[in-house]
Parts: sequence; C-alpha cells; structure tokens
Amino acid sequence: LPALAAALALGYFAGSIPFGVLVTKLAGAGDLRAIGSGNIGATNVLRTGRKGLAAATLIGDMLKATVAVLAASALFGPTAGLAAGAAAFVGHVFPVWLGFRGGKGVATYLGALLGVAWPVALAFAAVWLIVAKATRYSSASALAASLAAPILLAVTSGWLTASAFAVMTAGLWLFHRENIARLLAGRESRIGDKGGASP
Ligand code: G3P
Repeated sequence: LPALAAALALGYFAGSIPFGVLVTKLAGAGDLRAIGSGNIGATNVLRTGRKGLAAATLIGDMLKATVAVLAASALFGPTAGLAAGAAAFVGHVFPVWLGFRGGKGVATYLGALLGVAWPVALAFAAVWLIVAKATRYSSASALAASLAAPILLAVTSGWLTASAFAVMTAGLWLFHRENIARLLAGRESRIGDKGGASP
C-alpha cells in the first residue's frame, strides 16, 4: 500500500507540471489561458503561431507521464506503474498549481500509454494522425484515438490496464464536452487556424 501511495503521488506531481503554460510564459508568448480555447495543451499553444512551443508542450505533457510510469514500475512493479500513469493524467487535468483547472489530458494520456503499452500508444498516434489528416480537428482525433486504445488494451494487456484506460477515456470525453458541442455545431477550430476556438 505505501508503494501504491508513492506511485500515485509521483504520478500526480509529475502530471501536474503544466508545460504549455510554462513554455509560453518563458518564451514571452503570453498567457495561454487567455488565448484561443484557453486550454493549456499543445493544440492551443499552436494557436500562438509558435510551432516549436507547441511541440515542446506536446513532448513535455507526454513524457511527464511516461517517466512517471517507468519510474514507478521500476521501483514498485507494473501495477504501480499503471497507477502512476493514471495519476499523471489526473494531475494534468486537475493541477494543484493552477487551482485544479488544468488541461484535457490528451498528451498525458498518450504518454501514460507509451509507458504502459507502447504498441498501443503507436496505434493511438496512428488513429490520431489519420483522423487529423482527414478532418484537421485535434479534439475529434483525440476522441477517436481514445476509443481505440482501451479496446486494443483489452486484447493485449488484460482487464486491469484496459479498465484504467477506459476510465481515462471517459474522462477525456467529459473534458472535451465543449469541443464536442462545437464539433456538433460546426464551430470547432481546425489545426492551423489561429485563435479560432472560443473559450
Ligand atoms: O488536447 C486538447 C485538444 O483535443 C483540444 O484542444 O484547445 O482545441 O480545446 P482545444
């Protein structure tokens, strides 16, 4: 039990580092929460027009979860690794540093998946890229990829891992409810549109 608590704490604090807010502030690109959708993720950083900052956000928000999974699983075993990955997702979405108002969790979900079951992470990325190429909607791409992941995990990694990611998928859909409303209304901004989405 102390191992599980340590894994959860490690994951949460790693996940709560808001790379998007940090890199835009450090680069003098403004307050991310006042730009575009107001979200703290890489998609919204891209609306500043700074592709390098968006890439840094994507990589940071991903790898913080991957590192948490790998560290917890090296220290305490694979179940603790899974717990750390889920906690990183929670940390990103509800970060103590931002008054618990964090992001939508896509990159952190993918990073956790990379640590837990990297082939499924590749499949997630492939689905994301295919849908993004077809629609140029970041949100729709993530929503589709997040449905594929638990199904593939059920086949490759067993019920515990599949269930944990199914719960994260449910969260991810919940946190995208404004995006879903915009998609249904035809008002969602597309990748490459600057400052398009309204908060
Ligand atoms: O990762 C979040 C993405 O799916 C949507 O972001 O800024 O368009 O709400 P945004």
